[in-house]
Amino acid sequence: PFAFDAERDAEFERLVKRYPIRESMILPALWLTQEQEGWISAEAMAYIADRIGTYASKVYEAATFYTMFNLEPKGQYHICVCRTLSCWLREKQEIVDYLAKEIGIRPGEISEDGRFSLEEVECLGHCGTAPVVQLNGEFHEEMDVDKMKALLATLK
Ligand code: FES
Repeated sequence: PFAFDAERDAEFERLVKRYPIRESMILPALWLTQEQEGWISAEAMAYIADRIGTYASKVYEAATFYTMFNLEPKGQYHICVCRTLSCWLREKQEIVDYLAKEIGIRPGEISEDGRFSLEEVECLGHCGTAPVVQLNGEFHEEMDVDKMKALLATLK
């Protein structure tokens, strides 16, 4: 069954003291879960509700409202490429095509070894520095194929 590991448990306990209203712990707890597992299962939502002392439906509502939460398993390295206008105009497709060739997966897929998953997402809010890629939640701006190549090399 799902539970926070020791590090996240300590972080949860530290944060819980700072939030007098229980429901305000839902988002931090979802982040901790995603950090630990890479995604948020129904079981994890029930665990969070239990830890916070709220309804599982409230946790579910928050988890499904925000698109940055993964509700299904992802690769160890989850790569999101923005596909909205600025990034589209600035050749995001070259990056997607490069990744598809290099890792062998199309958007929406996970590599066979479970290391990588790729997704195209809506505007990541950094349009001025398009095209934008997110790797496990971390932003990489003004990307191109060379920079993507260099970024992948740091993961191998
Ligand atoms: Fe890509 Fe806004 S359009 S970050």
